[in-house]
Amino acid sequence: MAEATKKAFVTGHPIKHSRSPRIHGYWLAKHGIDGSYQAIDVAPRDFAAFLKTLQANGYRGGNVTIPHKEAAFALVERRDQAAQEIGAVNTLWLEDGTLWGGNTDGHGFAANLDDHAPGWESKGPAVVLGAGGASRAVVHALKQRGVADIRIVNRTLARAQELRDRFGAGVSAHDMAATGELLADAALLVNTTAIGMHGNEGLAADPALLPAHAIVTDIVYVPLETPLLAAARERGLKTVDGLGMLLNQAVPGFEHWFGIRPQVTAELRALIEADLAPKP
Ligand code: ATR
Repeated sequence: MAEATKKAFVTGHPIKHSRSPRIHGYWLAKHGIDGSYQAIDVAPRDFAAFLKTLQANGYRGGNVTIPHKEAAFALVERRDQAAQEIGAVNTLWLEDGTLWGGNTDGHGFAANLDDHAPGWESKGPAVVLGAGGASRAVVHALKQRGVADIRIVNRTLARAQELRDRFGAGVSAHDMAATGELLADAALLVNTTAIGMHGNEGLAADPALLPAHAIVTDIVYVPLETPLLAAARERGLKTVDGLGMLLNQAVPGFEHWFGIRPQVTAELRALIEADLAPKP
């Protein structure tokens, strides 16, 4: 079979559990594009060399995931504003021979809330649990969308303070003991920690401490309904799961490589949901 003319990839280490090939494969088929999107496992020591060969290997670009997002940030020739502010790159593309790095995680986060909780950004203070890479993307998106009071809570206070210093006005840093007080008047609670993920059961915070109008979202999507989301739903709060963030972060990359801005449809969501479901 002849090789596809438009080629993209996702690279990480490991990479075999990535859902991205399914997402982009769905859009390629839907739009009848002569393109491919391949998962490529690249060890950290080989990552710089891998980037150098992209053009020669016919790639238009691709996605970068754990553990390469920071290395990609350091190695690209140009960065978009989101990557610059987040300090990590998840999307690469070649433009007139120049390797660009962008970050679409913040876009994915905000677009997911736009889809499922429109108006979310204008309701009041946001509490963000965690201060790692995912938290940086979330805080970037919150600032971008004009949330004026962003409260980062982290087990290690120093990491929350680093984020506060990075993002400046409107962002505050707290240790976990302050959570209850911070939740009392919050309009949005975001979990960016691994708590609640399969194999790491537990409740990242108690949604009972939130006001009744609050929205609760988790960036973890395995399981789709985390203990935090289940507890919030039982309290009657609006919840948004993390799958839509994964689907929406893929949109700008596809547009860069294949020239069409794809849609996050119910059909796509159902396809990926079926893939996430525990196999008998
Ligand atoms: P990512 O890039 O996915 O955000 P990370 O940089 O490893 O991953 O950050 C993980 C976040 O989850 C951190 O905020 C971490 O808290 P620390 O900075 O104190 O390590 C948080 N986290 C992970 N496990 C946790 C746990 N059991 N209790 C509280 N916080 C936890």
